[in-house]
Amino acid sequence: MHSCCFMLKVSLITLFILFSVVCQGANNKLTILGTEEQHYNSLKQMYEDCEVVLGNLEITYIENYNLSFLKSIQEVSGYVLLLLNAVKVIPLENLQIIRGNTLYENAALVVVVNYNEMGGLEELPMRKLKEILNGGVKISGNPYLCNMNNVMWDDIFDTANDKSFVLLDPVGRRKLPVVINKTCPPCHSNCTSRHCWAAGPENCQILTKVDCAAQCSGRCKGTLPSDCCHTQCAAGCTGPRESDCLACRKFWDGAICRESCPPLQVYNPIDYQLEHNPEGKYSYGATCVKKCPHNYAVTDFGSCVRSCHADSTEVEEDGIRKCKKCNGGCSKMCNGIGIGNLTGVLAVNASNIDHFKNCTTINGNLVFLMVSFKGDGHTNIPPIDQRKLDNFRNVKEITGCLSIQYWPENATDLSIFENVKVIRGRTKELSRYALAVTGLNIKSLGLRSLKQISDGDVGIMKNKNLCFGNTVNWTKLFVTEKQNIRILENRNENECAAIGEVCHPLCSDVGCWGPEPFDCFSCRHFIRQHECVKECNVMQGEPREFIKDSECLQCHPECLVQNSTEIGATCTGPGPDNCIKCAHFIDGPHCVKSCPSGIMGENDTLIWKYPDENSVCQLCHPDCVRG
Ligand SMILES: *[C@@H]1O[C@H](CO)[C@@H](O)[C@H](O)[C@H]1NC(C)=O
Ligand SMILES: *[C@@H]1O[C@H](CO)[C@@H](O)[C@H](O)[C@H]1NC(C)=O
Ligand SMILES: *[C@@H]1O[C@H](CO)[C@@H](O)[C@H](O)[C@H]1NC(C)=O
Ligand SMILES: *[C@@H]1O[C@H](CO)[C@@H](O)[C@H](O)[C@H]1NC(C)=O
Ligand SMILES: *[C@@H]1O[C@H](CO)[C@@H](O)[C@H](O)[C@H]1NC(C)=O
Ligand SMILES: *[C@@H]1O[C@H](CO)[C@@H](O)[C@H](O)[C@H]1NC(C)=O
Ligand SMILES: *[C@@H]1O[C@H](CO)[C@@H](O)[C@H](O)[C@H]1NC(C)=O
Ligand SMILES: *[C@@H]1O[C@H](CO)[C@@H](O)[C@H](O)[C@H]1NC(C)=O
Ligand SMILES: *[C@@H]1O[C@H](CO)[C@@H](O)[C@H](O)[C@H]1NC(C)=O
Ligand SMILES: *[C@@H]1O[C@H](CO)[C@@H](O)[C@H](O)[C@H]1NC(C)=O
Repeated sequence: MHSCCFMLKVSLITLFILFSVVCQGANNKLTILGTEEQHYNSLKQMYEDCEVVLGNLEITYIENYNLSFLKSIQEVSGYVLLLLNAVKVIPLENLQIIRGNTLYENAALVVVVNYNEMGGLEELPMRKLKEILNGGVKISGNPYLCNMNNVMWDDIFDTANDKSFVLLDPVGRRKLPVVINKTCPPCHSNCTSRHCWAAGPENCQILTKVDCAAQCSGRCKGTLPSDCCHTQCAAGCTGPRESDCLACRKFWDGAICRESCPPLQVYNPIDYQLEHNPEGKYSYGATCVKKCPHNYAVTDFGSCVRSCHADSTEVEEDGIRKCKKCNGGCSKMCNGIGIGNLTGVLAVNASNIDHFKNCTTINGNLVFLMVSFKGDGHTNIPPIDQRKLDNFRNVKEITGCLSIQYWPENATDLSIFENVKVIRGRTKELSRYALAVTGLNIKSLGLRSLKQISDGDVGIMKNKNLCFGNTVNWTKLFVTEKQNIRILENRNENECAAIGEVCHPLCSDVGCWGPEPFDCFSCRHFIRQHECVKECNVMQGEPREFIKDSECLQCHPECLVQNSTEIGATCTGPGPDNCIKCAHFIDGPHCVKSCPSGIMGENDTLIWKYPDENSVCQLCHPDCVRG
């Protein structure tokens, strides 16, 4: 467990990128990492020389060790948790800012239960701490700790911190083992603010908010109006500019504090489009960087992340690791029946069905037997909850076989598997079948995405209500010459024809998986979102469409809907630059809802345009401000 934390430490490489040493921090809360000594060593490994903790700073269970390695820390992005330590001093002397991007029970600073039978935490000299951007302070159950009520916490909370609170309670919820009679030292007489973190003149609290002149909007370095800090400053400043801040509220870009990092794309007013910005930077924590550090991926929004969001997956593009949105579920490979920890298992059943959640590829077989749905008294396995069959709805590929020998009585098809595109048949039922469907009540197969069975036979037998077992040309799905079909004793074909259980006329001759226009293997005319249609909405119908490879695709909403037969179609292709006419305004080749106003252009200039009488966007005169 701890080795992973060692690996998270970002080495000196980042020193050259950021000019500050960054470490990941932790999210262990109450977990102790190995023995006390191992735990101390892993904390030391993680934080020694670290200046910026990108996550949370958690110091826990330290009784007799030297914590002077904490002196390097200046900034924490998440919360600071000091819990169950019994050292006299925790020397966070250089900590300036706690961002509180993640909180611990709504608090950004948590100091709780720091004592044992022998003694406890006495001093917390955080004399540089001048900013908590988000979250409150909870200091409770530290009977030996002094001076926490001498700190003016209001000065530390950012004005916009709407979650701020202070909870100071020397005893806390725990009963103390002995009555502790401790007198605390007062603040040093030289502390001009009369506030301090501990005894001694070096521990005076320097105020940067409550005593500022009324003109200041945030922090200041003195009481005069000329002492106001720039609005982008956090903690305080040495002068009025955004380059004089002690820390940045939002982002640190080279030498200055900014609201956001320079965008990766800028609007080019001559070519009317967003272009790569050579000055663009990624955000990495609260810093702007030219390149994300090793082992980080880039999101669409240009920030460096350690792992992509659940709805996207990591891909490499032009040598950069990027998070890409997955269309219709990210790929997830799962073991099927007969593989890995499902070796020796006969069928999908109530005790393994949860492992198939979100799987897109089944590496192995999917087998359903009577025991799946009836349960097994001997091994105490209950019947499958039918709603959990939905776990298979995302499956696109099965590398082994699909064998269904029992299915819920009231289910009319196998459309839970409607997204399966390919069954590879690398392992087969009875060494023969890649697809076996026997003895079910179903009326149709409903495998409407199935396009290939790479190896093995198809066996569809004894399904007394099934009309659509042989309505698809199976040969079209086969890859090798050796594959065969065995389709026997299903519902009589004449009977099916008599009750109209036949392919829809919009299907091509290859056949279908069921009676509806979305059950076709392929379409006779056109296809719109998986469904066969007679025609596309080119000249009429909503929304208007264009045709590409027999598929009906929507025109962009910025295209003006055309009604007159002389002009014809509304668009010729996808996107806002294939419209016949624009619905609103035109900016170069693009139809737009409004002309660009205040879009970031080159060199940090903002671009403003106005629509002329022909609804064409024209560049505002450079002397104009705000359009
Ligand atoms: C703690 O370690 C630091 C440096 O490693 C050293 O300078 C200091 O004297 C130590 N403090 C104690 C109390 O051992
Ligand atoms: C605490 O200590 C002070 C001075 O050392 C003494 O006057 C006082 O009686 C003590 N109180 C208790 C409850 O022991
Ligand atoms: C306290 O302030 C006085 C007057 O400014 C100064 O002479 C003295 O050195 C200071 N004491 C300490 C310990 O800094
Ligand atoms: C099989 O192993 C995978 C990956 O190690 C795990 O996610 C899954 O829960 C396991 N399934 C069973 C039935 O133990
Ligand atoms: C049901 O699933 C469990 C867990 O995968 C497995 O141990 C058991 O053998 C299965 N039962 C059958 C009949 O396949
Ligand atoms: C399945 O996907 C959903 C949505 O992306 C996610 O919330 C859930 O945690 C996933 N479940 C498993 C077991 O992976
Ligand atoms: C089938 O029956 C089960 C319970 O017997 C019920 O939960 C389910 O909703 C039914 N399904 C359909 C499609 O009627
Ligand atoms: C099925 O498809 C194969 C291969 O394309 C073709 O040779 C065969 O004639 C088709 N069968 C029917 C019944 O259309
Ligand atoms: C076309 O007809 C629709 C509704 O019938 C109408 O809203 C639209 O303004 C018409 N467009 C043109 C260009 O005439
Ligand atoms: C942006 O700055 C560069 C260098 O300072 C200059 O060459 C270029 O012309 C500027 N572009 C615009 C649009 O002002």
